[in-house]
Order: sequence, then C-alpha cells, then structure tokens
Amino acid sequence: MNTTIADPRLSGRAVRRVVLTEEAIAKRVCELGGDITASYPEGELLVLGLLKGSFIFLSDLVRQIRRPLQVDFLVAASYGDGVVSSGNVRLLYDPETELAGKHILLVEDIVDTGRTLSRLLDLLQARNPRSLEICALLHKHVASELRYPTRFLGFDAPNEFLVGYGLDHAENFRHLPYIASLQ
Ligand code: PRP
Repeated sequence: MNTTIADPRLSGRAVRRVVLTEEAIAKRVCELGGDITASYPEGELLVLGLLKGSFIFLSDLVRQIRRPLQVDFLVAASYGDGVVSSGNVRLLYDPETELAGKHILLVEDIVDTGRTLSRLLDLLQARNPRSLEICALLHKHVASELRYPTRFLGFDAPNEFLVGYGLDHAENFRHLPYIASLQ
C-alpha cells in the first residue's frame, strides 16, 4: 500500500516509505569520513565522484575527511528513465587529474547490479593508481558481477527503487534530503 508523504518536493507522488532519514545519513557519513581519514595516513588521496548520483553524498563526505585530498568526477550512465539497470555503461566525462601513484577513492551513491563499478574499476586500475577503493553510500547486495569489494559502505539497501540524496527517477527527486522507496 503506497502512502503519500506530505512533502512539497514530491509534487504529490506516492512513495512507499522513507528508508533513511536525513539524520541517519548525516551520522553515517560522519562515521565514514572518520574511517576514511584513518585509512589513509599518508600519500595523495583523490576522491572521484561518480556523477550524477553521488554529488550530494560526495559533498557531505569530503567535508568529514580530515586530511588533504583532491576531488574530481567521472560521468557514466547506465540507467535510462526506467527502474531497471540496462547494463550499458557509457563514459561521458573522464577525470582530467593525474591518477598514477595516488590513492583513488571512487565514490558511488548505490551499487545495484555492479556493472557500472566493474567497468569503471577496470578502467581506473589500468592507470596505475597507488590504491583503488570503493566508497558507496548504499549497496543492494545483488551485484553478482562486481569483482571488487566495497571498502567503505554506508548502508545495506533494500532491493527497491530508491530516490533522494542524489538518487533519481527520470532526473527527479535528487534533491530530497532523505532516501525514500518509490515502489
Ligand atoms: C545509477 C547509480 C549508480 C548505478 C548503479 O546511476 O547512480 O551509479 O546506476 O547501478 P549498477 O550497480 O546496476 O551499475 P545512473 O546510471 O542512473 O546515473 P546517475 O548517477 O546520473 O543517476
């Protein structure tokens, strides 16, 4: 049974439930920032945000990392306007920053099938980083194809279509400060 949350940002669209509140996300992002800070005692750290979905998570996360770092972005697209991952990953923007010799932390909003990350990590590994790790806010744990572990993880996610805090449906709902299930 769908319910309509009284939030003008939803324009009356029914969402099933709030999965993660703004407060829960903020607390976990703070913890992740602490873990990441402790995990990189030395060396150059490049935080690579995978657009567009990671833009809010990345901006909150880097402010909780208490060590020098650089930020750049990747743009890939795997979903169209539907709710099922197509598996077609296109690289639309390549980071201009030098990757060789740096600790690379790839920041992703959600790991679903894992196809996006598998493809990107193969590509990034070929550029000889000092280390290459994934930080994902959400993980559905259905990714049979993902050959790389998620070193830093915010939350296990239900296998539902999630929106908010950067996640979209047909480019809508990215600006919600919480994460909700649309189904
Ligand atoms: C979504 C999401 C992840 C990816 C996860 O991105 O933000 O990047 O799909 O799916 P996967 O694990 O099945 O590959 P999308 O392509 O919708 O682009 P967006 O980040 O611009 O929303």
